[in-house]
Amino acid sequence: MPTSPRHAAAGNLPSSETIRVLAQRVSVRDYAERSVDDHYVQAVLKSAFRAPTSSNIQSYSVIVVREAETLAALGEVTAGQRHVREAPVFIGFCADLTRIEAAMAARGHCLEDNNLEVGLVASIDAALVGMSAYLAAESLGLKGVLIGAVRNNAVETARILGLPKGVYCVFGMVLGWPGEVPAQKPRMAYDDMVHYERYGRHADEAGVDERVAAYDAVLAAHYEAAGKPTTPDSWSHDMDKKFNPQLRDNLRAELAALGFDFR
Ligand SMILES: Cc1cc2nc3c(=O)[nH]c(=O)nc-3n(C[C@H](O)[C@H](O)[C@H](O)COP(=O)(O)O)c2cc1C
Repeated sequence: MPTSPRHAAAGNLPSSETIRVLAQRVSVRDYAERSVDDHYVQAVLKSAFRAPTSSNIQSYSVIVVREAETLAALGEVTAGQRHVREAPVFIGFCADLTRIEAAMAARGHCLEDNNLEVGLVASIDAALVGMSAYLAAESLGLKGVLIGAVRNNAVETARILGLPKGVYCVFGMVLGWPGEVPAQKPRMAYDDMVHYERYGRHADEAGVDERVAAYDAVLAAHYEAAGKPTTPDSWSHDMDKKFNPQLRDNLRAELAALGFDFR
């Protein structure tokens, strides 16, 4: 039977400034009383716009929000998240089909009832730019957190941000100079996530239930050490609670109203 490669000890792996930035990354929701000047935002976004983009469609737009009234409204739509309401700066990463539509309209065509592929690709583009911006921000010493809760009500978020039809906010990002930085959340085991040549080369070893149970125990210990409420089946419990009943069950209709057909 072919043997699977096993990962080397971290000390034996090549490293770089980017890898070191990623290795110490953690979501931070508490910020110092120091503004994030616009030249930082520009540096972060201009570098992020070098992210790859499917067929060069560049189907994203970014909304930079600083006004208290807008932040308060975003705080509400995101179920009262304090770090959104009091964000030093909030950046909305949007999928944007308007430029493609303009190019097509000028040639007598339209994106009406766009198919799943274009919505998906535009969302992936926005996510790649968002993560690139996040990494660039981290490399400058800024900290932050992504905000998917803007999709609690995609239509209301679009209203708050003044998005036209053909644009929706995939996720937001809060950035600030760090206040309290929490301990890093443990990840699932590397060997549980990485497969060589074919999925499931660990057939001779623990099954998915045992692997998940092992991670439950690791995450429960992490939360206990951090003084946060948890259960012995920490991750499994959270996943079940999050996705049953269905999360954001209005989303398909809301995205359709915004011009994204995810049927
Ligand atoms: C797409 C996306 C949406 C997220 N939405 C929220 C959010 O609305 N509020 C929040 O506080 N954290 C949010 N997070 C942060 C995750 O909770 C966090 O990344 C995860 O728990 C792992 O913790 P870590 O980033 O500290 O490693 C989001 C992360 C991602 C990738």
